[in-house]
Amino acid sequence: MNASQLPPAQTPAAGAAPTSGGRSLYGGVTNRRVTVRDLAAAKRRGERWAMLTAYDALTAGVFDEAGIPVLLVGDSAGNCHLGYQTTVPVTMDEMVMLSAAVVRGTERALIIGDLPFGSYQESPAQALRNAARLMKEAGVGAVKLEGGERSARTIEMLVEAGVPVMAHIGLTPQSVHALGGYPVQGRGDEAAHKLQRDAKAVQQAGAFAVVLEAVPAELATQVTESLSVPTVGIGAGAGCDAQVLVWTDMAGMTAGSVPSFVKQYANLRKVLGDAAREYAAEVLGGSFPAAEHSFK
Ligand code: KIV
Repeated sequence: MNASQLPPAQTPAAGAAPTSGGRSLYGGVTNRRVTVRDLAAAKRRGERWAMLTAYDALTAGVFDEAGIPVLLVGDSAGNCHLGYQTTVPVTMDEMVMLSAAVVRGTERALIIGDLPFGSYQESPAQALRNAARLMKEAGVGAVKLEGGERSARTIEMLVEAGVPVMAHIGLTPQSVHALGGYPVQGRGDEAAHKLQRDAKAVQQAGAFAVVLEAVPAELATQVTESLSVPTVGIGAGAGCDAQVLVWTDMAGMTAGSVPSFVKQYANLRKVLGDAAREYAAEVLGGSFPAAEHSFK
């Protein structure tokens, strides 16, 4: 049985519904973590949802309180949290450590841990060993891995073993060196057909959702309509069932430019920089600490 064949999610016994723009999420799930079954039910109801990345307990807690139902501990931690140039160097140990922190910092969100480059491509057995680490050591509720047809056998084996898997197709950043950068995918008939085959293959293998990254909006809409499991778009237009953004991009923490598909909802880099400058100036000028910040 795959996620799309599951019976409807149970609604919670008590508690006010978390709202997003005034709309309730998942029939008002408040007293337990969101599950893959809730996401399947949301697709059936035609209800959209938002996903963000998170890499630490504090930030994840803010998003959890804000009612973000799904948090991805993405291997984008490589360039957004750990100071690498790409996601390629990220290790399993790093993903376990970051995922465990995000799980500890949250109560309601479904936490998905990314399998980093080299942690699942060798064999389904290697994938299961590392997925089990994320579930047992970090406590995530699901894992994500990149690849369509090429990863289908691995997804099938993980799902059979009881691991909920989110697939990731279109632009797959772990292949940055093979792709020569981060080009938009699915342009032209052949590439569009390949994307559709990838989407069908991962759904058939049992993935509970599919990330579509950097794909023309019309193609992403077609793929979304052809699948029974939810699609999660990033740079894939408004026709997907859900959206994901890297939190540092959407909150204005990223240094330098962000991809054109990102909307910045805040300018945290400026807010934090201003706070740090003001603090340093007050220390230099002797106005901090004042009497109220000192013990008598
Ligand atoms: O690692 C990541 O953050 C991701 C999302 C951008 C989907 O894969």
